[in-house]
Amino acid sequence: MATDSVTASSASSVPPVTHELRGKVLLVTIDHAPVNALSVEVRRGLAAAIEHAESSDAVQAVLLVGAGRNFIAGADIREFGKPPQPPALPDVCNRIEACHKPVIAAIHGAALGGGLEVALSAHYRLAVAGAKLGLPEVQLGLLPGAGGTQRTPRLIGAEAALSLMLSGRHASAQEALKLGLVDRVGASDDILAEGLAYAQELLASHAHVRRTRDAHGLADRAAAQAAIDTARADTAKKSRGLFSPLKIVDCVQTALDQSFDEGLRFERKQFLECLDSPQRAGLVHAFFAEREVQKAPETKAAKPRAIESVGVIGGGTMGAGIAVAVLDSGLPVTMIERDDASLARGRAHVEKVYDGLVAKGRMTPEAKAQVLARYSGSTSYDALANADLVIEAVFEDMNVKQAVFAELDRVCKPGAVLATNTSYLDIDAIASSIKRPQDVVGLHFFSPANIMKLLEVVVPKQVSADVVATAFELAKKLRKVPVRAGVCDGFIGNRLLAVYRTAADHVMEDGASPYQIDKAIRDFGFAMGPYQVIDLAGGDIGWATRKRRAATRDPNARYVQIADRLCERGWFGQKTGRGFYLYPEGARTGSPDPEVEAIIRAERERAGIEPRSFSDEDIIRRYMAAMINEGANVVHEGIALRPLDVDVTLVYGYGFPRYRGGPMKYADTVGLANVLADIRAFAKEDPLFWKPSPLLVELVERGANFASLNEAV
Ligand code: 3HC
Ligand code: NAI
Repeated sequence: MATDSVTASSASSVPPVTHELRGKVLLVTIDHAPVNALSVEVRRGLAAAIEHAESSDAVQAVLLVGAGRNFIAGADIREFGKPPQPPALPDVCNRIEACHKPVIAAIHGAALGGGLEVALSAHYRLAVAGAKLGLPEVQLGLLPGAGGTQRTPRLIGAEAALSLMLSGRHASAQEALKLGLVDRVGASDDILAEGLAYAQELLASHAHVRRTRDAHGLADRAAAQAAIDTARADTAKKSRGLFSPLKIVDCVQTALDQSFDEGLRFERKQFLECLDSPQRAGLVHAFFAEREVQKAPETKAAKPRAIESVGVIGGGTMGAGIAVAVLDSGLPVTMIERDDASLARGRAHVEKVYDGLVAKGRMTPEAKAQVLARYSGSTSYDALANADLVIEAVFEDMNVKQAVFAELDRVCKPGAVLATNTSYLDIDAIASSIKRPQDVVGLHFFSPANIMKLLEVVVPKQVSADVVATAFELAKKLRKVPVRAGVCDGFIGNRLLAVYRTAADHVMEDGASPYQIDKAIRDFGFAMGPYQVIDLAGGDIGWATRKRRAATRDPNARYVQIADRLCERGWFGQKTGRGFYLYPEGARTGSPDPEVEAIIRAERERAGIEPRSFSDEDIIRRYMAAMINEGANVVHEGIALRPLDVDVTLVYGYGFPRYRGGPMKYADTVGLANVLADIRAFAKEDPLFWKPSPLLVELVERGANFASLNEAV
């Protein structure tokens, strides 16, 4: 086997790109675990392979194949932000396309981003079943930067290209064939055999070099322009605050208006601007963080227990949502409720989700029936005797929960995992109330549980490692993003939420309207402001919690009563037609309510507060300082393993803008010294609320940042 000469700079002794002659075909294999990303050695290897093909008379065609499970997953994301090393990927792609002998890409698994751009530079493309083709750069704050914005529309037209690039979605082999992204779909999934057969066939038919740069996908100029105009209007509306989507549209416009080479130059410039943007840094942080959170110490130390069947206790908001999430993963569910009427309600909640899908044409009635065949309900705990895992989602009351766990202790088989979905209660106290505390874990889902991606895996003191590993395995099955959290009031997410909402309440009482606060938070990138969220979830939930905690509240702590005044009037938000906002005739978007503003004025007077004005930036600085400081506290106390676990929690559970990476990443971006200076300034007004986290102080003293604490655990 001949190999190229990239070994010198490669960390491993085996070069990641090798080539060998198979008859007249030069088989070029990209073998760079885990996903054949286009690191510098791979780029050099590809370029060298093409040079070899050009110079060797024995070679008549080139076949590009990926080793392992993928073709090429794209540029090496770990290289972003580091000094570039030649050859640049666009040059490698141009080199492939310029080759005088036919180059064929045989695609299995992922051909994403730069991976698809390599394939588009080849002259012929084949894919096999299971292939995923896409240009997901937009999800990393980027645009296809190796000719993708120029070649894709030329190959498949502006509309389809824009749809792929703006959504970042993956197309299957069949869809790729329909779009014209590939020329054929292999009959088997033997990528090597399929690729070689295709190459032989092309040689036999004297197939010519066929360059995507010369393709005619933009020939219908009017249609292309219409697609670009539509995409521009949609993107301006939908991609709030995002930098790269409009640049993608601009690149396609250039593809239509300019020469290919001019288009490549334009694309390069836009790509580099995206690469330099903090959004790219935030999104890449989120990409790695969501993979890093899966690696809890217990998942390395222990094997998960087998989960073949799941019990859910309680068929209310959460129980029903959890049941749907579990059913959707293909597992059977047994739901337990207090009585027949509650059980019927629970089943109705579950059915309603599927009925909604059927009504929208996203599910057939037969598929619904198939899913529900895996669902059963009972009012007797004995129905859980064979369950491998049980998730409790009954009322948030320690006595009720302990009574449920006593029943579980009685009926469940040895080794069954016993989980609670409690939001705030002490899971150690639940665990120690039964004879098998080692089996008890927290699984904190978010509402709606079948939609929200976050799952806090709450780890009590006595739990055994394999139970925690099972929780992470379940998360994978349910397609959730698990974050390991320790036991405390509110775990990671709700604990931060309580603090930053309080900061917002202070700002409101001090002079800003809830409408200004919500808008400032939305402009920062959240989908909704805190008062819109309260109106959506129902103000009564927080009110009940505040009343429960009134006796234990620090009497010296500032307590803003505005929300209580609204609740006393029965204004619980959307469900009652008014809360912080007015929702006339069931409107889902609220409008400002002058009566609420009058209540706020009266509350300020009662508290002796002279209102002052806040800029949007003032609001954000307080909101973020509160969030970051409490984030530092949960890391300091070991409730979160690392700052990135806080980031993932806020991004996946609380609508924190992903392009900012999460609050801790954001803190690093603005500088921890600046955040601490803000907290110290705010502390002059309210030292009890604004206590700098010891971790924040320590990091600032050391000149370090949160990222320095993110190393693998
Ligand atoms: N660069 C570097 N590392 C990558 C990577 C990439 N492009 N893609 C994945 N990885 C790493 C992951 O971080 C993970 O590392 P770890 O084991 O140390 O945690 C490992 O590869 C396996 O990844 P997954 O856990 O995600 O494996 P899956 O099998 O679940 O998924 C995948 C595979 C579908 C390829 C998925 O990893 C993925 O979507 N990757 C990103 C694809 C992408 O966004 N490509 C575009 C990059 S930007 C670009 O190409 C710019 C160009 O236009 C110039
Ligand atoms: P809910 O009031 O909608 O549902 C609770 C259900 O439990 C009711 O259907 C009730 O009949 C049933 N139930 C009560 N006692 C029972 C018992 N002994 N045996 C069987 N069933 C019993 O409450 P919700 O909102 O679903 O909350 C449930 C749990 O989930 C609580 O611990 C809550 O803190 C937690 N949670 C709630 C979230 C939310 O957004 N609503 C989010 C995350 C967690």
